[in-house]
Amino acid sequence: MRIDKFLAQSTGLSRKEVHRLIHAGKITLAGEVVSNSGLHVSEDADILLDGFPVEAPREYYLMLHKPEGFVCSNQDGNHPSVLNFIELPRADELTICGRLDVDTTGLVLITSDGKWAHRVTSPKHKTGKRYRVETADPIPTSAVQAFADGLMLHNEPKRTRPAELEILSDNEALVTLHEGRYHQVKRMFAALGNKVTALHREQVGLITLDAELEPGEYRELTAEEVAAI
Ligand code: URA
Repeated sequence: MRIDKFLAQSTGLSRKEVHRLIHAGKITLAGEVVSNSGLHVSEDADILLDGFPVEAPREYYLMLHKPEGFVCSNQDGNHPSVLNFIELPRADELTICGRLDVDTTGLVLITSDGKWAHRVTSPKHKTGKRYRVETADPIPTSAVQAFADGLMLHNEPKRTRPAELEILSDNEALVTLHEGRYHQVKRMFAALGNKVTALHREQVGLITLDAELEPGEYRELTAEEVAAI
């Protein structure tokens, strides 16, 4: 990795600020003052900034309990981004793994690792996503088979992939999807003449939302959780 990228990622400084430090002779590599911002360095390089060691940049893997009113995009004119909760340098450059609607709550995965994010979201990996759903009208038992068979959604040529529906009570169910179409849960219930009144994501793959996290709180994933995707 280039030394300016290494420094920017590990300190949270902008590239411009890093270049200024390099030109001011504040950075050393293995005891030698660095003057070339494009110098390639390894992860274990012995780099000092003003005499203080700089740790190698690392990847972040986070789970956030998304509250209502926030969007899962880096920018939106109308609502704040879920990234506002993340207290890390350059949080606005993190990747949000998939979208929840502004009124959907629950588990959102956020990472600096683009390849890992792709594994979470790519339909090829078929990572199951489980939602707790409340509906306006009672859910008939026939809906279980309809979800398993796949449904035709308004204005879409292809049936949805088989999804699991577990009815918990008259107006409450768990739904597990293996793809991520726009407003998919709401549109699947709409296809059956029902309306989703509350939607909460509980699980992505084998990662379950930590019950200790209040809405708006986040934590780093464990190594096991990262490896489970
Ligand atoms: N399906 C929806 O309809 N909305 C979401 O936020 C997620 C899945």
